[in-house]
Amino acid sequence: MRVLKFIIANIGPYKKYVVGIFLAMCLITVDNTLKPLLVKLFIDIVSGAEQGNLWVVFTFYALLQFMLVSVWTMSDYCITKYTAKFRLNVAEHFMTKLYEYPYSFFQNQLSGSLTSKINDAFQHLPHLIFTIINPFMYFILLILISLGLLASVAPIFALSMGAWVFLFFVITMVSMKKSMRLNKEYAEEKSKIIGLAADYLGNMMSVKLFAARTFEQGRFSKLQKPFVDIAEKGGFYHTWLYGFLGMLTSLYALFFLAALIFGYQKGVVTPGDFALVIMINFNIINTLFQLSHMLRDFIANWGAVDQAIALLETSEITHSDKTNATALNCRQGKIAFDQVKFHYKGTEPLFENKSIEINAGQKVGLVGYSGGGKSTFVNLILRLYDVTDGAIVIDGQDIRDVTQDSLRENIAMIPQDPSLFHRSLMENIRYGRADSTDEEVIEAAKKAHAHEFISTLPQGYDSLVGERGVKLSGGQRQRIAIARAILKNAPILILDEATSQLDSVTESLIQESLWELMQNKTTIVIAHRLSTLLHMDRILVFDKGKINEDGTHSELLSKAGLYKHLWDAQVGGFLGDEKTEEA
Ligand SMILES: Nc1ncnc2c1ncn2[C@@H]1O[C@H](COP(=O)(O)OP(=O)(O)O)[C@@H](O)[C@H]1O
Ligand SMILES: [Mg+2]
Repeated sequence: MRVLKFIIANIGPYKKYVVGIFLAMCLITVDNTLKPLLVKLFIDIVSGAEQGNLWVVFTFYALLQFMLVSVWTMSDYCITKYTAKFRLNVAEHFMTKLYEYPYSFFQNQLSGSLTSKINDAFQHLPHLIFTIINPFMYFILLILISLGLLASVAPIFALSMGAWVFLFFVITMVSMKKSMRLNKEYAEEKSKIIGLAADYLGNMMSVKLFAARTFEQGRFSKLQKPFVDIAEKGGFYHTWLYGFLGMLTSLYALFFLAALIFGYQKGVVTPGDFALVIMINFNIINTLFQLSHMLRDFIANWGAVDQAIALLETSEITHSDKTNATALNCRQGKIAFDQVKFHYKGTEPLFENKSIEINAGQKVGLVGYSGGGKSTFVNLILRLYDVTDGAIVIDGQDIRDVTQDSLRENIAMIPQDPSLFHRSLMENIRYGRADSTDEEVIEAAKKAHAHEFISTLPQGYDSLVGERGVKLSGGQRQRIAIARAILKNAPILILDEATSQLDSVTESLIQESLWELMQNKTTIVIAHRLSTLLHMDRILVFDKGKINEDGTHSELLSKAGLYKHLWDAQVGGFLGDEKTEEA
């Protein structure tokens, strides 16, 4: 049902083409069913069973023939007109809808299997619509007109054909439910395989480094059995079903032929009637056979599309804005955590009743062992996850009451491991502010000390960076991300180990630009090298989700707590890999 609902909701702009296809199909049916009638007239006139002018019948025949050709052309035109546009519309619908899903949804899904599902909808939806209006409706019309014609020869013919079609219909309907279920399971297994392939290709580096081809092969084989099982189960089910229906159809055809011969011998059937009935039967049997095979594809495609559309109705809580959400008014940039509780789905609580205020314009450093909750702290401010309880408030506004776009427009974030689009460097940096000029992009790249390496590339700012930016080094990617943040120039700035992959020389050069960027902004800096935090107004020390220390560098040093311990462990202010006490 949801497939039908989706089609009805999205067919709007293409209605006229669909109506066009429908009309064409009606005319084709009329043509196909009237031709046997003309053949009957020909034969009856030729055999002398009836009086009439053969050329009048010929003229009708010619008219029908020309109509058929023009109507087919019209139908093809409409199909071409709507298919591509409708497909684009479907893909766009998916992309818009998925944007509303929480970030966690994407962390739990293989992007390959998402792509496979979108591809299913993209490929099959236009055909589904075509199949519903074309062959199915064609068949219904064909049956109705044929029944009328048969009744004109002998009511018994119409009755027996009606009964037989009804039987065929009932068998098909009864088998449909199981058929659909099998096809849905098949689509699900298929998307797992595509998902695995995409995950494998995306992690090719690891697969090669660990020489893990055989291991991956093993994972692949594990998926093979359920896939083949369900494919065969579905395939055989349909083989038997259509074998059975084929047998029924043949019996029916033979029965009819026998009845005709009988009628002819009794003298109640004219030669023309004989031809008419045979042609109608031939028409119907032919169509039925085509239809049953089409039905099989139809159900398979329907199953695949259904799985894809299920994605749009996933039970996972969507993360859409409140209906009355306003734009965040970020005048100063004061951030407050008010009794915040948070845990990732199915894990231990990380923050429990955390309350803390970061004043407007304050520069705050976050330090602590890896896994202590620093990234989570800033991701909560960005509302990549919703707090479990309590609230995060920016300039007096609960961030759940404002639109997510406006929230994130006011925050420039340089993530721990920035990933880039497979687009040019120019476009990647311009992601920071879509309307910036080439000069502004280059200016930002210079401040981020990315300009040096970009200028040495053969294609400079036009170089493509590979999927997720794999053709750049980690440090180069970080500099692109810094350039983006410089362009964005938002009132709140967050650096999550933004310079961790840079050599110390480049890092100290960039620190200057970053320091300039931090002016008049509320800034949160998560840092690996403690020396980069010396100028912060305040440092928060995280340990297992708790903020154990809070103060300036010198205050914290005098406390002789975790901060002092971390500081001492550093060689020249560099925190050695937090190896020992992973939280
Ligand atoms: N998406 C996630 N789902 C479940 N647990 C997560 C997720 N992200 C992080 N965690 C867990 O939350 C804890 C804090 O992680 P994080 O905030 O990244 O720490 P830090 O940035 O201080 O190293 C870790 O134990 C980590 O495993
Ligand atoms: Mg982190």
